[in-house]
Amino acid sequence: MMYLTLLILPCLAAVTLGSNPGIQVALTNKGLQYGTRVGADLLQTKIETVSIPQVSGSVSLGPLGSVQYALSGMKVVKVNLPLPTVGFSEGTGVKADLSGLNIAVSGRWNTHYHIIRDGGTFDLAVFRIGTASVVKLGSDSKGHLSVSSVKCSSSVGDIQISFHGGASFIFKSFVKYFKPEIQSKIQQNICPLFEESIQDVEKYLAGMKVSFQVTPTLLIDMPLVSPPMVQTSNLNLSFKGEFYDVKQHTEPPFVADPFQLPQQDGFMVSLGMSEFTLNSATFAYFSGGKFQINITDKMIPPESPIHLTTTSFGAFVPQLPQMYPNMQMLFHVYATETPMFSFLPDNVTLSLSASAKAYVIEKNSSLVPVFRLDSNASFSGRFLLEGGKLKGSLMLNNVTLTLGASEVGTFQTGTLQYMLRMAMNVAVLPKVNEKLKAGIPLPAIGHVQWVNSMLKVKKGFVAVATDANVS
Ligand SMILES: *[C@@H]1O[C@H](CO)[C@@H](O)[C@H](O)[C@H]1NC(C)=O
Ligand SMILES: *[C@@H]1O[C@H](CO)[C@@H](O)[C@H](O)[C@H]1NC(C)=O
Ligand SMILES: *[C@@H]1O[C@H](CO)[C@@H](O)[C@H](O)[C@H]1NC(C)=O
Ligand SMILES: *[C@@H]1O[C@H](CO)[C@@H](O)[C@H](O)[C@H]1NC(C)=O
Ligand SMILES: *[C@@H]1O[C@H](CO)[C@@H](O)[C@H](O)[C@H]1NC(C)=O
Ligand SMILES: *[C@@H]1O[C@H](CO)[C@@H](O)[C@H](O)[C@H]1NC(C)=O
Repeated sequence: MMYLTLLILPCLAAVTLGSNPGIQVALTNKGLQYGTRVGADLLQTKIETVSIPQVSGSVSLGPLGSVQYALSGMKVVKVNLPLPTVGFSEGTGVKADLSGLNIAVSGRWNTHYHIIRDGGTFDLAVFRIGTASVVKLGSDSKGHLSVSSVKCSSSVGDIQISFHGGASFIFKSFVKYFKPEIQSKIQQNICPLFEESIQDVEKYLAGMKVSFQVTPTLLIDMPLVSPPMVQTSNLNLSFKGEFYDVKQHTEPPFVADPFQLPQQDGFMVSLGMSEFTLNSATFAYFSGGKFQINITDKMIPPESPIHLTTTSFGAFVPQLPQMYPNMQMLFHVYATETPMFSFLPDNVTLSLSASAKAYVIEKNSSLVPVFRLDSNASFSGRFLLEGGKLKGSLMLNNVTLTLGASEVGTFQTGTLQYMLRMAMNVAVLPKVNEKLKAGIPLPAIGHVQWVNSMLKVKKGFVAVATDANVS
């Protein structure tokens, strides 16, 4: 029994740990209606290039026997696609009703009647095509969105057909026999065609990537963690939203907390990103050893009051210039823990823990360790979206500096801590804030531009509500 529990526990843990999404996207009814208008425009041009499968059959002429016919090489000459009525189908997916679609088609006809073969061209107009369909949305085991047709019905109001060429004058008298046959053939073909195209979409979705490289170091894992949730007024998608180092797939020592997107019916799309997603990125950088830098005096601006030399550091560590007179220094600065963001209402806080290991550079370039400083710092900022750019400001909450280890004996760090705080406030933060004031443009996705975007930092996540403009 205990063994069984031990076997099962890790599985349960794996399932529950991975289940909270890092990123959630909600499509509102406003978004669905906009998407429908964009989609209908695309569909209108798509239909004009669609290849229509051959239609063949036979028409009985009573005692005279029957005529075998085939309509082939059909091309859409003209189509008028009315805007479908689209809505969410609660618990299932999306329903779409289309009525009043008219299509004009031209093609070739061939007939075979006893030993007589004939052929020519035809023009066909199909009036008032109507369809009612429901597409179910789901997810597959790899986290792809999946679609399937669960309902389809179709109707055709009327058709007009005229034959040209061949001995078509003979045919004219037969059109009345052909018409109902062709009309019902067309009507029977609509739903299979629709289902086929849904299967094509499904194949496309199943082949989509769920992981994307976003920087040379990072990739983001974006499978759905649960099937889409369809309510009467919105559709919610929950994505894993976790960053990894491209070289190693290490899980961070923290997990995503659940969060609830605020209702935003006035916008097309609502998007929420948990602090977990951002912290998985800093964890990936941290565990990949990216948060470290070696600083030498060459990198310090000449006007700086402190230089990385034993002479300059004598002000803080009096024994240093005595032991190593007039020598250059190197500081190896590295994060000792994952830099962590936390989201509070209207407040983003960043906590950093870093150490700086100081070396003296010998004449023969070998490095002698002299001491290590440990520091914790906390920054906080406010962010907003303005004119499609992320803007904000960052300030220093607190910074501490203590002596972690020393090969040259102990010394006071109070003045160094003061200098570090000054350097942050006078040199570093003004530069960062200048960039944040100018704003960072939001990434565009394909031809989609984000307009009227609004950002709100909430406890544990950041919510963005936006309209889209497809160009
Ligand atoms: C879906 O998203 C909306 C925000 O548009 C939110 O109000 C709703 O609670 C979400 N539903 C679920 C089941 O998460
Ligand atoms: C910095 O210098 C230290 C000590 O020589 C070395 O171990 C480390 O690899 C260097 N790091 C970088 C990022 O250059
Ligand atoms: C560099 O010089 C120091 C003393 O000046 C010596 O202790 C050390 O072994 C030398 N290192 C190398 C790599 O020659
Ligand atoms: C930094 O914070 C850690 C815990 O978060 C603490 O153990 C350490 O003493 C702090 N160091 C300094 C220099 O304040
Ligand atoms: C953000 O919250 C932290 C912790 O509560 C606080 O110290 C800081 O002053 C706040 N910052 C802003 C900009 O409100
Ligand atoms: C700054 O950090 C130190 C050590 O972590 C703490 O004792 C002090 O209360 C903090 N000060 C502020 C203003 O948060």
